[in-house]
Amino acid sequence: MTEEDSISKIMLKQHYEIDKCIHRFDTALKQDDLDLRGPFNKLKWEIEKHFFIEEKAIFQLHYSENKETSNITIRLKKEHDILIDAMEQIEDRIKNNEKIDLPGFREQILNHAGFENKHFYPRLDDELDEERKRSIIERLTNCEL
Ligand SMILES: [Fe+2]
Ligand SMILES: [Fe+2]
Repeated sequence: MTEEDSISKIMLKQHYEIDKCIHRFDTALKQDDLDLRGPFNKLKWEIEKHFFIEEKAIFQLHYSENKETSNITIRLKKEHDILIDAMEQIEDRIKNNEKIDLPGFREQILNHAGFENKHFYPRLDDELDEERKRSIIERLTNCEL
């Protein structure tokens, strides 16, 4: 299976990019870097882009096809909203020069992405018919920004 044949592999790569951004932001925090905005904005961009891609290219396209996986997408979308809120709180804390709990935020992201990596995307790769999978992968590769 090549990379373009698998939803899991494409999304795993995006999750890895997000974690790299968290590490960069963490390094800036630990060094008391005065420019926290730069690494934070990059992290925010990667997360918002990723959630947009998941919601529009995967959840929406997949929606209502299978009751059980549809319910999972509803739960994942709720988790996105919670993570976006948590990210906005971090942004406020940067503005107010307050302490940031990045390990807590990273853990939330890792739990969410871990479930997608281990259970949700492999299941979609397994269960979707080739045509549906191809149309999702086409969207995923079209919206590489
Ligand atoms: Fe997600
Ligand atoms: Fe994800």
